[in-house]
Amino acid sequence: METGGMIDEASNMKVILKNYVSVSPQETDMHLTAGTIKLKAPTGSNTLVVKNLFLSCDPYMLFKMMKLESHYTQSYTPGSPITGYGVAKVLDSAHPDFEKDDLVWGITGWEEYSVITETNHLFKIQHTDVPLSYYAGILGMPGMTAYVGFYELCCPKKGENVFVSAASGAVGQLVGQFAKLEGCYVVGSAGSNEKVDLLKNKFGFDEAFNYKEEPDFSATLKRLFPQGIDIYFDNVGGKMLDAVLLNMRVHGRIALCGMISQYNLEQPEGLRNLTTIVSKQVRMQGYLVFDYYHLYPNYLHMILPKIRHNQVLYVEDIADGLENAAAALVGIFSGRNIGKQVVAVDCL
Ligand SMILES: NC(=O)c1ccc[n+]([C@@H]2O[C@H](COP(=O)([O-])OP(=O)(O)OC[C@H]3O[C@@H](n4cnc5c(N)ncnc54)[C@H](OP(=O)(O)O)[C@@H]3O)[C@@H](O)[C@H]2O)c1
Repeated sequence: METGGMIDEASNMKVILKNYVSVSPQETDMHLTAGTIKLKAPTGSNTLVVKNLFLSCDPYMLFKMMKLESHYTQSYTPGSPITGYGVAKVLDSAHPDFEKDDLVWGITGWEEYSVITETNHLFKIQHTDVPLSYYAGILGMPGMTAYVGFYELCCPKKGENVFVSAASGAVGQLVGQFAKLEGCYVVGSAGSNEKVDLLKNKFGFDEAFNYKEEPDFSATLKRLFPQGIDIYFDNVGGKMLDAVLLNMRVHGRIALCGMISQYNLEQPEGLRNLTTIVSKQVRMQGYLVFDYYHLYPNYLHMILPKIRHNQVLYVEDIADGLENAAAALVGIFSGRNIGKQVVAVDCL
């Protein structure tokens, strides 16, 4: 429908969650459906209408697909489009801080167009000389997660020994490169030989291993860290974390970023080696990135020149179109993604 040259209603494809999931999500837990959307933000509503450009596939979305009573993130509503981080262009704004044609990143819907009502964590994109999809990865939430976990929690020092798990992913590939920039010795683990090759030959990790081919994680870590580990950036939890504990050095630091190996287990694995935390005086700390978003300007100041000068590289795995979005999202729970998994909805 068109009034005075402005289209005020459009058709809108959406990715809908059918029902809550209990363990591993499947592509069939979601479906694509057509709807319509009004492209005008009602005056005085403080809302924005955006066109979604890129959507980010993030592990925490699994919790939102489950019916969890008490969790830091609220469950999705079955029958409604799922939501997540994304990059979008403002089509109309009734919010004083945003105007038509602004580019933004933050929480949006998995659909072609969205009405955004919650603007607390919506960031205006000021720098467009880098790929826009980066605002779903290195310049968005995953980038901030790597920055906060590594610099704020792990306090790296030159020459220290750093281990990163899920090291080729959205967060891990950055932590490894940050550690190299700080003059650390860096080892990463990943789930395929292709990913191991990427870690060593593209991101400059000193060593890397395919954890699926290592029967004894502790022995592998002892071989690669004969002097022990100063910093462990944990993306997986479970058996790997337990093996790391046995290999920590005195005054080591562990950033508990995520525990993806545990997310879809009915019975989470236990840890047996926690006494090391006392005997080696290790500091182990969990964190949630959104508590640190006030540091985003500092991060941009640090990372943008490094991107522009190819001092930090970023590998993305871009799925094309909403019709491939559900497969892309479930793929991250079996390691199908190589690098940051993004869905391109519309590239402008
Ligand atoms: N604390 C926070 O605020 C925060 C924010 C963002 C992300 N996170 C956490 O950070 C971690 C990494 O997230 P990301 O966005 O960078 O994801 P990602 O690494 O891009 O994708 C997930 C990867 O996890 C690995 N994986 C999947 N199942 C696994 C299993 N059972 N055991 C071991 N590895 C498994 C796969 O890589 P392989 O092929 O190598 O197995 C997969 O590619 C996740 O735990 C996530 O929850 C935390």
